[in-house]
Amino acid sequence: MSALATEYSAVNLGQGFPDFPMDEQLAELVNKAMKEGFNQYAPMPGWMPLREAIADKVQFLYSSKASADAEITITPGGTYAIYTALTTILQPGDEVIVFEPAYDSYIPNIEVNGGTAVLVKLEYPEYKINWEEVRKRVSKKTKAILLNTPNNPAGSVLRENDIDELRSIVTGTNIFIVSDEVYEHIIFDNLPHLSMLRYPDLHERSFTCFSFGKVYHCTGWKLGYCIAPASLTKEFRKVHQFNAFSCHTPMQVALAEFLRFKESYTSLSGFLQQKRDYFIRLMQKTRFELLNSCGSYFIGATYKNISEEDDRSFAIRMTKEFGIATIPFSAFYQDGKDDKVLRFCFGKKVSTLEAAAEKLSRI
Ligand SMILES: Cc1ncc(COP(=O)(O)O)c(C=O)c1O
Repeated sequence: MSALATEYSAVNLGQGFPDFPMDEQLAELVNKAMKEGFNQYAPMPGWMPLREAIADKVQFLYSSKASADAEITITPGGTYAIYTALTTILQPGDEVIVFEPAYDSYIPNIEVNGGTAVLVKLEYPEYKINWEEVRKRVSKKTKAILLNTPNNPAGSVLRENDIDELRSIVTGTNIFIVSDEVYEHIIFDNLPHLSMLRYPDLHERSFTCFSFGKVYHCTGWKLGYCIAPASLTKEFRKVHQFNAFSCHTPMQVALAEFLRFKESYTSLSGFLQQKRDYFIRLMQKTRFELLNSCGSYFIGATYKNISEEDDRSFAIRMTKEFGIATIPFSAFYQDGKDDKVLRFCFGKKVSTLEAAAEKLSRI
């Protein structure tokens, strides 16, 4: 959709990246690190002061006692961390429970390791997990459950009852959890982010994956990290050692310092909640009906009052004829389930949101 957006000079609310600049202070810290000569290979698990800053951060946020030395690994992005976790645990024939709509890398990451994704659909329109369905799909072959909270594209988040259900399913089994928490700081309406790191009994079987790109508006950096218990991290690093080996040094040096400013991440929810709320207000002048978004910088909207077209055709037509690009939800389903919902990214400048709303009000 981004390629089409460029071709038709459309306003792009499709792809999930901010169009406003990243923090200048962080950019300056990277510059400083480069000038001071931090330009050679970083240690394989990551720059130690950064791992220490992350350990302090998760202690502060989630009361988690992750060891910088043995449990935290810096990775080239969140997607890589998820891929590496899956590669660490999967053998051919293994099954992984995946919730749909699903971020696009999950299923290929499972299949390339010889595994099978066992798909469970989140329930429209709140996109909640149907745990009865999960129970039915768990088998002797289930190696892992892959979670994503806050969820891309639906904006739904895990609640305490989900944690209880998850616990009741995995306790007493060898099932791992791979938890994609790249939107940990983008959660609204004072909801807590229920990281696996909060729960020692779940953390002990989890690879929890994060992304600096999503936190600091620098998706092009492709820098993230995975936190897992020492025994799992040891195996995770065996895969990482012979793949990327290590991540770019100056960014890690800069982030080690920047992470100490708690405000740099605690302010993110408020900042994006304002954008969400402004976008909701703007959309009231259109015929689209917005669904709920409790987190991430995405919100779904149904166009069922406007057209009977399938979501893919409608999204393409919107881009070509009305100059506004979105992502059809069916792209996040293997079977192309079509609830006539489009994904909008509201993590954009006010002027972009206003330009988009102006075009949307004509549809
Ligand atoms: C759910 C989810 N996980 C992971 C990522 C990617 O993170 P990174 O860019 O750090 O690989 C994205 C980016 O869109 C995402 O939406």
